[in-house]
Amino acid sequence: MLQLTPRSIRIVDSYEDGQNAKHVTFEPIDFIHEQPVRIGQFFMLSVPGAGLAPFTYTSLPDSKGRFVALIRKVGKLTKAIYALKQGAVLGYNGPYGQGWPIEMLANKEVLIVAGGCGIAPLAATIDHLIEIGRAGNTTLIYGAKDRPSQVLSRERRNWQNKILVHDTFMQTNDADKSGTPTQHIENVLAESDRHPQIVLTCGPEAMMRSVAITCHRLLISSDKIWLSLEKRMRCGIGLCGHCYLANELVCKQGPTYRYDKLLELENKTTVFHKHTGLYQYC
Ligand SMILES: Cc1cc2nc3c(=O)[nH]c(=O)nc-3n(C[C@H](O)[C@H](O)[C@H](O)COP(=O)(O)OP(=O)(O)OC[C@H]3O[C@@H](n4cnc5c(N)ncnc54)[C@H](O)[C@@H]3O)c2cc1C
Ligand code: FES
Repeated sequence: MLQLTPRSIRIVDSYEDGQNAKHVTFEPIDFIHEQPVRIGQFFMLSVPGAGLAPFTYTSLPDSKGRFVALIRKVGKLTKAIYALKQGAVLGYNGPYGQGWPIEMLANKEVLIVAGGCGIAPLAATIDHLIEIGRAGNTTLIYGAKDRPSQVLSRERRNWQNKILVHDTFMQTNDADKSGTPTQHIENVLAESDRHPQIVLTCGPEAMMRSVAITCHRLLISSDKIWLSLEKRMRCGIGLCGHCYLANELVCKQGPTYRYDKLLELENKTTVFHKHTGLYQYC
């Protein structure tokens, strides 16, 4: 059943985690998720008077329904959420969208490339890979402006000795870590003798595209490269049309996309039918 009225969730814990970012634990008030949440799906948070917006599950709901999200302060709504204290109640809808291709990762060498807060939608995937015994086959390249800007400090500490992690910084004197995550892909893979069969990336759009192009050049086929798009969304459930990409709604069919599928969508041309006054993608 489509649940339109926001349900109530409470902040049970929160702490500063990087610059202008907060690590927030939520718990449902008097409801349970009817469907299990899938890794990479998103939810909508609303605060009366401040608006509503999509956010990603950094950890999936536990047995009490508690889950974590990383909130980056950028505008009216996120400033309002940022200011809320433990015990505050917000509106919640979800889960929405399609997740990462988790089933495909089970026996693969996985490369994860994240930029800034883009690591938040990938955190549950990394935890899952560790849980199913694939830590030794998982590489994370994580880029941030500088060390204080890095987020998910607690999660990254837990991953540090389990998976291969390579941090990169735009501002650093350490030549081994300087630059964008994309600039490090080739070296990290060569030095660790890893040959990824599947790539997941999330972060600024320009970064994801350069990651996809680089990985494709390294002979990873475009149907094995996945991106998570941060389109502006309003309803999150396919009603308002704010998130169109060609003839698809990113809130329904995304936000995770295979690179070949994304290119195909972007190459679609629009034809205007004079007699109906409608646009058609073909
Ligand atoms: C599927 C999905 C998952 C997301 N997950 C998270 C998450 O886990 N944590 C998190 O902090 N944020 C996440 N976001 C982004 C978050 O939804 C926006 O930051 C939020 O809408 C900002 O609302 P606001 O009212 O605070 O800022 P606004 O006043 O709406 O915007 C402030 C500034 O941010 C820019 N902006 C806002 N939203 C976007 C966007 N989607 N893409 C590019 N620029 C944008 C605006 O152009 C403006 O310059 C996600 C977005 C999507 C689509
Ligand atoms: S956000 Fe409304 S249709 Fe996608």
